[in-house]
Amino acid sequence: QPNGLALTPPMGWNTWNKFACEINEEVIRKAADALVSSGMASVGYKYVVIDDCWHGARDAHGDIQADPARFPSGIRALADYIHAKGLKFGIYSDAGRLTCAERPGSLGHEYQDAAQYAAWGVDYLKYDWCFTGTQDAKAAYTLMSDALRASGRDIVFSMCEWGTAKPWLWGRNVGNLWRSTWDIYDGWQGRQGNSLGVMDILDQMADLYPYAGPGHWNDPDMLEVGNGGMSDTEYRAHFSLWAVLAAPLIAGNDLTNMTPAIKAILTNTEVIAVDQDPLGAQGRRVAKQGDLEVWARPLASGDRAVVLLNRGTAPATITVNWPDLGYPAKLPAKVRDLWQARDQGTSKGSYTAEVAGHGVVMVTIRPAV
Ligand code: GLA
Repeated sequence: QPNGLALTPPMGWNTWNKFACEINEEVIRKAADALVSSGMASVGYKYVVIDDCWHGARDAHGDIQADPARFPSGIRALADYIHAKGLKFGIYSDAGRLTCAERPGSLGHEYQDAAQYAAWGVDYLKYDWCFTGTQDAKAAYTLMSDALRASGRDIVFSMCEWGTAKPWLWGRNVGNLWRSTWDIYDGWQGRQGNSLGVMDILDQMADLYPYAGPGHWNDPDMLEVGNGGMSDTEYRAHFSLWAVLAAPLIAGNDLTNMTPAIKAILTNTEVIAVDQDPLGAQGRRVAKQGDLEVWARPLASGDRAVVLLNRGTAPATITVNWPDLGYPAKLPAKVRDLWQARDQGTSKGSYTAEVAGHGVVMVTIRPAV
């Protein structure tokens, strides 16, 4: 049974991509402050999620404790602080013996941990898959899903087993989102160890569109926008593609230190509206010619959101043809460019734009009546 949560992809901020294990309550309070003062909260970012490394040991009863050096005020106080700002609070654990950074996992403590999270005021749980040995993923995630329900609190369940057990086939009644790939890193293309660049993740998402919908999302991992490894053009592409994929928009940069360009990317309300479209249809690649691709998703209004993607390094001209969008070839339609925030007039049958290298043009296309 779906839990009725995350009817649009979750939006928020998570510690991992920028801070990894260098976290403490001050870092998280400052991020929550910045989420509000930057205007991000008011355009939809609401979950503040502590990833790995918040844990201390279990106490004599087996109850999990926060690391007292990093979180001297305790998790409940931090949750209260975040809630007082009108935000929601998320935390992290792992289905195995240990988390990926070798903190205590929830194996054997699922109901106990879920009850603890509920008592702390947790609204979102990211549940990882390290040190799980021979555990069955569906069974392990179902166990924690049941435990969260039994806690009596509404907790969005983010499953993070990297797509190894094809969670898109069984995840929709278990959790609200599931990682579909290995970790992202802050780069355009290629692998860094086990981590993937934006283009590599995109390719792995291409066939997963049938499995996403309200309450159950494919998760191509958190945003790297603003972390410094890519150009603003590349970050705009990253953000646009995540929106067309109906991906969770979980920022992962230092919110207290953003350039105006990065803030403008993360707060583009027209792109966010595509991501959050209530139909919840994940986009797909509808055309490809070498490095030039067209990605599209239908919106609840009947409009289409389209990303023209240039994977090459030189500028190029890309055309989207209406039949690739499920529109008749001669249909007149109004085109709006979402990054220029400009109406581009009415087109019949196709729309062509010049696209920067490693860049996108993102438009919505609305049948003219
Ligand atoms: C895994 C996850 C990451 C992050 C780290 C924390 O690699 O996929 O998103 O949570 O663990 O250790």
